[in-house]
Amino acid sequence: MVRIGVKRATPERVEADLLAVGIFSGDDPPEGLSTAAQPAVSSEDFTGKQGQASLLYAGESLPARRLLLVGLGESSSFTPEKLRRTAATVARRARTLKARNVAFVLPTPEGSDVRGAARAAAEGAVLGLYRFDRYKTENSQGGEPENFDLIPGVSEDEAAASAGAEVGAKVAAGSVLARDLANEPSNTATPEYLADRAREIGERHGMAVTVLDRAGIEGEGLTGLATVGRSASNEPRFIVLEHRKGGGGAPVVIVGKAVTFDSGGISIKPTTGMEDMKFDMGGGAAVLGAMEAVGALDLPIDVVAIVPATENLPGGAAFKPGDVLTMSSGKTVEILTTDAEGRLILADALLYARRYEPAAVVDCATLTGACVVALGNHASGLMGNDEDLVAEVQTAGEATGERGWPLPLFEEYTEQIKGDTADLKNSGGRGGGALTAGAFLKEFADFPWAHLDIAGTAYGKKGNAYTTRGATGVPARLLVEFLIGRSA
Ligand code: BES
Ligand code: MN
Ligand code: ZN
Repeated sequence: MVRIGVKRATPERVEADLLAVGIFSGDDPPEGLSTAAQPAVSSEDFTGKQGQASLLYAGESLPARRLLLVGLGESSSFTPEKLRRTAATVARRARTLKARNVAFVLPTPEGSDVRGAARAAAEGAVLGLYRFDRYKTENSQGGEPENFDLIPGVSEDEAAASAGAEVGAKVAAGSVLARDLANEPSNTATPEYLADRAREIGERHGMAVTVLDRAGIEGEGLTGLATVGRSASNEPRFIVLEHRKGGGGAPVVIVGKAVTFDSGGISIKPTTGMEDMKFDMGGGAAVLGAMEAVGALDLPIDVVAIVPATENLPGGAAFKPGDVLTMSSGKTVEILTTDAEGRLILADALLYARRYEPAAVVDCATLTGACVVALGNHASGLMGNDEDLVAEVQTAGEATGERGWPLPLFEEYTEQIKGDTADLKNSGGRGGGALTAGAFLKEFADFPWAHLDIAGTAYGKKGNAYTTRGATGVPARLLVEFLIGRSA
């Protein structure tokens, strides 16, 4: 992976294969670069519009081999997200140019903090370079930049910039792990595979790891997971990771749905697009990625991660519509469709979380197609039983560019999932599908709880400046940000 550093230098002196400098709309290039850059600006070929990039060859006038001007848009509306995207654009351009050593002048407009800017730039560079090509036998490896150095302004605090860059690189590495796990096809990324990756994370960072196999799952009374996983020959796993670096008080619990392949089961899905259901473990992948970052950052906090992992397949032993499950709390659930499997395994995870008497629980899950209809691919559905917690999660989403948008859990949605034969049914019908799923989970949460429906955000058909087609890693960075906020 690219090394992110901080270099104290003036742009006109820095040696690099590519020197990139961000310029706000209407601004002049920095003084030392004006010989090289002014013609592009004066001719209005380059205006500083967000996303614009002009590559210049400065010849003798600069020690850097190439100069890239990148537009930052209006300085008054500049955000960390724009900086993430800009750094990603620079990193990708460096790759196409096969530039090994990159220097990026860190834009820090009036009033912005250099630590946050360095963090955002580091995240953007690492994430922008991500690709999943391990199954391309002629993959395009090579051309990766080796060094991506951030150049803070002369009056900026270099130590703060270095600290920010380090945090950004670690957070991004967590997101990269989440992407790798989610992109991995289901013939490799089985529940046991996820358990192995969790064991590695635990080993690396001194976390306690518990993995329950089928017998353990049944022994704990995890009915939903045992039932959904009953017909799959890749057996289910219940994965728990504990990072205990806080004061030993009430921990925060993060939960991620990990259905490594969701065929729908007996209520089988249509063929078209079914291949995307390998991403149905995106929540679990993000939780593991977040734990990797939590460990690397050594956050002073108590966190427990819970990942219920299973396939959802039809078969002779599969659960069926009409079946009734008795959950460990005693509540009964009538199955209307075996395709509403996520809420069953999440209910188990929420019930399991009770033993920690958690300060807060945040779950994330590719839970409903209805959420994709509601919000598209630009925000995760955000629900919960605690206004302050929901607001806290929303803030973490805004800060990271992994937005969550609040949706209501009115009493009426709970009415919609009241069962005929049993206490609850696992589908509330067509109307408000994301909300009836949320209302179902709410029945199992007796602590402050928030839920992110990431069906539209965990993966995509096309990428943006720092995501590619496939897994996005969402909401790994959101979770880390939330946990940083909760740290001592
Ligand atoms: N994993 C799916 C949800 C999903 C759909 C994720 C599309 C990503 C894209 C989930 O298990 C599911 O099948 N949900 C059903 C629930 C319904 C049957 C009540 C859905 O959304 O159709
Ligand atoms: Mn399903
Ligand atoms: Zn599913």
